[in-house]
Amino acid sequence: MTRRSLAALSLPFLLIACGGGGGDDPDNGGPPGNTTVSFQTDLLPLFQSECNRCHGGAGGLQLDTYEDVMAGGDSGPVVVAGDPDASLIVQRLDGSTPPQMPLDGPALSDNEINLVAQWIQEGAQKN
Ligand code: HEC
Repeated sequence: MTRRSLAALSLPFLLIACGGGGGDDPDNGGPPGNTTVSFQTDLLPLFQSECNRCHGGAGGLQLDTYEDVMAGGDSGPVVVAGDPDASLIVQRLDGSTPPQMPLDGPALSDNEINLVAQWIQEGAQKN
């Protein structure tokens, strides 16, 4: 067996090890559809501390409740359930559609951006 095929074999295990996010569910590798990110406990506090000093209406967007987030802003919906790449909120956070948010400060950490993207990937549920 070559070095290369060994590396290829270990890759799926690395992906599983990094992909959990939820942490306390022993049944990883379970069926897709299990959610690991909670809107209430993971996202709302993030929006409150990083966004809401402006998003009581900046860009027509409010981020105080699930309904506010799903209602979107001046550009229309900012969340496309199941498709983080197509979601303006992710594009503004990762800078792929400028200007990057938060408008007045450093970008969120990769972990924080991933939380938002993961929640959208999991169907943008009211959870
Ligand atoms: C310093 C003020 C400020 C902060 C903090 C801020 N934003 Fe914004 N945001 C704006 C302004 C002003 C606009 C409208 C102008 C524009 O689109 O650039 C905007 C626009 C947006 C839009 C586009 C809305 C639309 O429909 O066009 C999204 C999505 C967004 N912000 C998300 C966020 C998120 C998520 C955070 C927190 C991580 C955040 N913003 C933090 C000021 C801010």
